[in-house]
Amino acid sequence: MSAITEKIHELKKKRNAVILAHNYQRGDVQDIADFTGDSLGLSRQAAKTKADIIVFCGVHFMAETASILCPDKMVLLPDEHAGCPMANMITLRELRIKKKEHPNARVVCYVNSTAAIKAESDICCTSSNAMKIVSSIPRDQEILFIPDKSLGGYVSSRLNRPMILWEGYCPTHHRILAEYIIKLKSEYPGAKVVVHPECTPDVIALADHVASTTGIARYCKETDAGEFIIGTETGILHRLRKENPEKKFYAITQLADCSNMKLISLEKVLWSLEDLVYQIKVPDDIASKARVAIQKMLDLSE
Ligand code: 13P
Ligand code: SF4
Repeated sequence: MSAITEKIHELKKKRNAVILAHNYQRGDVQDIADFTGDSLGLSRQAAKTKADIIVFCGVHFMAETASILCPDKMVLLPDEHAGCPMANMITLRELRIKKKEHPNARVVCYVNSTAAIKAESDICCTSSNAMKIVSSIPRDQEILFIPDKSLGGYVSSRLNRPMILWEGYCPTHHRILAEYIIKLKSEYPGAKVVVHPECTPDVIALADHVASTTGIARYCKETDAGEFIIGTETGILHRLRKENPEKKFYAITQLADCSNMKLISLEKVLWSLEDLVYQIKVPDDIASKARVAIQKMLDLSE
C-alpha cells in the first residue's frame, strides 16, 4: 500500500468517513473507494451509509444528491470545480418558461442536473432506471424529459412514446462516433459493442447492448464474449479490466474523457479528509423539494 493510500485509510477510519467513487474516476481513486458504481448505486449507498462523512469522488450533482438524501451528514467533493457540463445546459428560468409552454407535462429529470432543477421536477431518473420511470407515467400523460436529449430520445424510441426533449447532451459521449465503431468492428468482428445511452442515436443503433455504467460492467462480466468495444467514458475500462482480466476491452475513442471526473485525484481525496473540503450543502428549501423527486425514483426502482 502506498504512503498516500495508507494515510487516506487512517483518516477515513478516524473521521468515520465512507468514500464513494463513480465508475469514471481515475483507477487509483476507484481502488481506494469503499464503493464504486453508477449514479443510482451511489445514491443508494449514500442513502444507507452509517458513516458521518461521505467523500464523493464524482461530479457536483452527485455530491448534491448525496447531501439531499443525507441532510445530516457532511458531504465532501474533493475538487469544487468538478461539475457536469450537461447539468449546466438547463437553467431554472429556462425550465420555468418551458413548463409554462407545456402546463400539463410531467417533468422527468435525469439526475445529471442541479438540485434547483430537480426541485422543479416531478420525478428523477438515472440511466439505469429511465425506462422504468417513464413507463410508470400513464401513456396519455405528456412528458418533458430534461436535460439529456440522447437518453430521452433512446427511452422514447425504445418505449415508442413521444416526449418533449430538452436540447442538452453530454459532450464526452457525443465525441464517440459511429464511424469509429465501424472501423473497430472490422478489426475485431467477434467483439460485442456496449454503449451508454448518453451516446448519439447512430452510435446506439450499432450497439449489442445499451446500459448504465454498472449495467455495462454487469453485461461484460456475465456475457461469454471475450472482446468488447466500449462506448462510454474511458474511466470505466479500469473496472472492466480489473474484473475480467481474461477479456479484452477496446475504448471506441480516447476522446471520450470527462475532464471533470478526472479532476479528482488521490492527493485531493486526502486533502479533502484532512481539511474537510469542499462541503456540499443544498439549502433546505431546495433540498426538501428535490428530495421528493429523487425519493419517488428510488421507491420505483427498488
Ligand atoms: P451512470 O453511471 O449512472 O450510467 O451515469 C453516467 C454519467 O455520465 C454520470 O455522469
Ligand atoms: Fe457530465 Fe458527461 Fe461528464 Fe457524465 S461524462 S459527468 S454526463 S459531462
